[in-house]
Amino acid sequence: MRRNRRLAFSASLFLFLVACAENAPQDTLEPQGEVARRIDQLINPVFIVAGLVFVLVEGLVLLAVFKFRSKPDSPEPEQIHGNTRLEVGWTLIPALILLAVAVPTIAVIFDLAEKPENPVNVTVIGHQFWWEYRYDDLGVVTANELRMPVGRPVFLTLNSDDVIHSYWIPALAGKTDVVPGRSNTMSFSADAPGEYLGQCTEFCGDSHANMRAKAIAMAPRDFDAWVAGQRAASVKAAAGTPAEEGALAFAQKGCGTCHTVEGVSEGIIGPNLTHFATRTTFAGSIFDNNDANLRKWLRDPQGEKPGNKMIIPGAPLTPDEITKLIAYLNTLR
Ligand code: CUA
Repeated sequence: MRRNRRLAFSASLFLFLVACAENAPQDTLEPQGEVARRIDQLINPVFIVAGLVFVLVEGLVLLAVFKFRSKPDSPEPEQIHGNTRLEVGWTLIPALILLAVAVPTIAVIFDLAEKPENPVNVTVIGHQFWWEYRYDDLGVVTANELRMPVGRPVFLTLNSDDVIHSYWIPALAGKTDVVPGRSNTMSFSADAPGEYLGQCTEFCGDSHANMRAKAIAMAPRDFDAWVAGQRAASVKAAAGTPAEEGALAFAQKGCGTCHTVEGVSEGIIGPNLTHFATRTTFAGSIFDNNDANLRKWLRDPQGEKPGNKMIIPGAPLTPDEITKLIAYLNTLR
């Protein structure tokens, strides 16, 4: 008995302490944009109301347990059936409390559903297991990282290519489901330049946990420069370099069947790689974009990220092929 109690205590203490992360980039309680802040401002008053109700109810339960508990020679308590005033009271009071909570909540929901003025429009497409971003007004297609200017909201139209996903960047906004055959929308903005991490938050298959999201907020001038770079024609590998051999391997191995590199291939199953080297991460943002990680990934994409759609035709790539492909990918700026 005592051992069980000690075990239960340690387990609760452990659970309590693991919540105290110092570096918690996906903390919902530290809003870094207007939309997240408006949602956060709802939490405090609702939490206070819920806290008071909790203390009151638990207090009464404890009072009943201790004051009125059965003692060896206590008489049979008085038997009551029905009390109209009590029953009306405990129906009306919670209804009024819920009403008080609902009014500001629903007002914020309607406000946040409005399309903001002068947004950057982005179509977001959920894939197993990565995010595609299409800036149709700007002629830009990218993957895994949502680039956005500070001081201007993004307006996202969310579609899915396969199953239900859910888009969530906790510091910037709430979750929105990404449903096949439906277009949901959301908008948000960031207060300051920086990277804001997120996560697919609807179970979508073996690598659901490997489907991360990242928003990169930039000064408006940097954002414009990024757009100009993404619109530029793809870079051709120089003759006689390892990158050129990599381009050849890219064609021979059939990479272009699934990946677009503008002017080279038109695959649409995997991410568009035209400006791959400008991205900070790849494969659903689980890897930083560097040679060591690319090598790991190209050696065994299924081992690194189970269930993803990257199947390399005809057995694994040789180390030599991988080296050349990495040289090629690094030129795609
Ligand atoms: Cu996509 Cu979970």
